[in-house]
Amino acid sequence: MNKENNSKAIIVIFGATGDLAKRKLFPSIYRLAAAQKISKDFAVIGVGRRPWSNEKLRDHVITSINEHADQSPSIDMNEFSEHFYYQSLDVENVESYQELYSLCNQLDDLYQTNGNRLFYLAMAPNFFGVIANHLRNEGLTNTVGWKRLVIEKPFGHNFESAKELNEQLRQTFREDEIYRIDHYLGKEMVQNIEVIRFANAIFEPLWNNRYISNIQITSSESLGVEERGNYYDKSGALRDMVQNHMLQMVALLAMEPPSRLTPDDIRSEKIKVFRAMRQVKEEEVPEYFVRGQYGEGENSGNRVSGYRQEPNVPTDSITETFVAGKLLIDNFRWAGVPFYIRTGKRMAAKATKIIVEFKDLPMDLYYQTEIKRPNLLVITIHPDEGITLHLNAKESTNSQRVQTTPIKLDYCVNCHDGINTPEAYERLLYDCMQGDTTYFTHWDEVSLTWQLVDPVRTYWDKSKAEFPNYTSGTMGPKEAYELIEKDGYTWWPIRSGEKVYE
Ligand code: BG6
Repeated sequence: MNKENNSKAIIVIFGATGDLAKRKLFPSIYRLAAAQKISKDFAVIGVGRRPWSNEKLRDHVITSINEHADQSPSIDMNEFSEHFYYQSLDVENVESYQELYSLCNQLDDLYQTNGNRLFYLAMAPNFFGVIANHLRNEGLTNTVGWKRLVIEKPFGHNFESAKELNEQLRQTFREDEIYRIDHYLGKEMVQNIEVIRFANAIFEPLWNNRYISNIQITSSESLGVEERGNYYDKSGALRDMVQNHMLQMVALLAMEPPSRLTPDDIRSEKIKVFRAMRQVKEEEVPEYFVRGQYGEGENSGNRVSGYRQEPNVPTDSITETFVAGKLLIDNFRWAGVPFYIRTGKRMAAKATKIIVEFKDLPMDLYYQTEIKRPNLLVITIHPDEGITLHLNAKESTNSQRVQTTPIKLDYCVNCHDGINTPEAYERLLYDCMQGDTTYFTHWDEVSLTWQLVDPVRTYWDKSKAEFPNYTSGTMGPKEAYELIEKDGYTWWPIRSGEKVYE
């Protein structure tokens, strides 16, 4: 089937009145339409509990695009919004699905969408299973075109619950029809990891334990939990960020080159990484993982409260808002190379960075200073998307002795005029419409990553935490520094404008 045919579809968004639809989905559909990446033959059915009308949804869509789409409108906004229809639905009620069924059929005819249906569940995960069952029972998935299910995380809260949910969904959708979103996989520079590694002869030969000493991945946020206290307090940073985004980045950094760039080949290499990752036993958790919770402090010059004072968070909560960990991959390529990860809320900066630290040379001819200056490859995922290679060169002085100075080879993707990299959601929606599962997580990945984090969760749930243990506006608790320093390394700075070498 060609691309044009694939992009003819009805997109049914459950949770259309919610935050994700407003901030990400509507603006992404708009940008895809403006870029003519979806056919003119598309319709969106916004589904929600509230009794909205088509007009109300359309106004809402226009507002959300004006607020969140970062490009000037190049298509008629009213014409675009007329592709949106609203269906009020109670997720437990059979009749609501029957109404949705009629609307789908009607729009199928009107827009000639060939029966292609994309069901996007942008809502609380406890309804995923129920909705999928109703979609099947009321005939919505019985269509002549393709049917696909897109679901947001969290996919379960541990291995057992994820397995149960998966079994439920599999009664209606095949594995290749389930698109589990990990929005990090839609990011430009996360997708670039593969290309930087496998399209450059200078990196691949060095990409192993002979030349790399350690890899550090930081995803820090300056915001706190905002309005999400209810969800977050049950989740914590381990489930919210580590089980998915952080481990996915590790897999892309550590995997073997796939023999072809097909979703299956890439996935099977990622799975091998998760299989080779050392499974930490409960009693070993303190040796490998550190948790933290923010106390009050400062954020951009303003006083901010601690996690326990946030709305919908119990005042004695022991939920972690920060995790640092040391991951080991026991295979020939990576034995002995720690992958350090850290992520948290209310940290000093909003940044996502990968720093690959190369080993020192066997002998340092120019050793004149106490400062350690290994070569670093820095992949910046946020805020500036780019790569930087830190090298040493000769310092231009008249001194008798040759002195070295650090230099940087820098490439910033989104700093150049005219390059506006698509948003993660825009890419992922497009891929889903094309039937490309490469940047979605397969059940095998989800199941293995839960099995890797579950012992950590269990240990933490059983043991006491001395919280809060880091001040808002810092880079986390001192134990996170000790975790890496005991191996003889240090966290490289990640804040923009901050020098790696002070
Ligand atoms: C989400 C988490 O998956 O990722 C949030 O649920 C977190 O808590 C967000 O803030 C971070 O994503 P990004 O793209 O802003 O780094």
